[in-house]
Amino acid sequence: MTANADSGSTGDDFLTFSVPTDVNVWLGHDVRVAPPKWMRVGSADGFVRTDHIVSTNDSKFRLHWKSFESGKVTLGGNTDNGEQGGRSNYIVLIQPKPPTRLANPTTIGDVVPLLAKADAERGRRLFFFSQATRCTNCHHVEGRGQKFAPDLKSIGKGPRRKPAEIVESILKPSAWIVEGFRTQTIVTTKGKTHSGIVLGETGDVVRFVDTNARRFDIKKSDIEERVSKNVSAMPGNVGEFLTPQQVADLVAYLLALPHPDS
Ligand code: HEC
Repeated sequence: MTANADSGSTGDDFLTFSVPTDVNVWLGHDVRVAPPKWMRVGSADGFVRTDHIVSTNDSKFRLHWKSFESGKVTLGGNTDNGEQGGRSNYIVLIQPKPPTRLANPTTIGDVVPLLAKADAERGRRLFFFSQATRCTNCHHVEGRGQKFAPDLKSIGKGPRRKPAEIVESILKPSAWIVEGFRTQTIVTTKGKTHSGIVLGETGDVVRFVDTNARRFDIKKSDIEERVSKNVSAMPGNVGEFLTPQQVADLVAYLLALPHPDS
């Protein structure tokens, strides 16, 4: 919420900010003023009026929402006529867009032709901020994220260098598994089952990270059974949420990462 003196703001370009991911912008507009024209309430590219009301000790604000793609968001002024007094400026609430399931899941063949015009900066935002990807729950890049999946900095130089192979690693992670990252299932003598990755072993314990990113040690004497499975610990359903262009952008981002030896 901005200053009270902004209650008479006008025009199409009053408030600008950047969002790192696709968002829904909720705009609470003082019910004592008509929503300004730039909101285009009810039109296809405008804000959608809702019945949700936010109350303050001064007034009531009706919530309207609109989706914006990642990048710059520009909102206009509070009024059409510039009149001040007896009202408040609008309130802005920002919500990362929840992932939506695509009607047709993305396939490797859909992505490959788009690699040529992929955008690494858009891919970077998806990698770090998208609710649909959560790549940093497992991968560590640019000093952020968890460290129990392969270091992706080397991806352009690894045994699987070709962009189409990286697309496959994202959409069908179990088709080819990075050496040492096979999913392990450990059943303990108490009957508990853990699935994840073995990070290391000492004489008595196995250091383990499960698919929920929890790290712990398991005593070897407590292990009843160990099975190495030919599946990746990486989620296999990314293609149900990311469009072909989004997957291409992720690949462009990974290929543009500076290599440690360069
Ligand atoms: C639940 C943990 C997890 C998440 C979330 C995850 N990954 Fe992975 N990823 C792994 C593991 C484990 C491997 C190694 C096994 C394999 O090859 O599939 C891997 C492998 C990869 C590889 C192959 C690496 C190589 O050296 O060839 C790529 C590329 C990759 N991930 C990209 C991504 C991207 C992009 C995302 C987000 C859309 C993501 N991962 C999300 C766990 C994860």
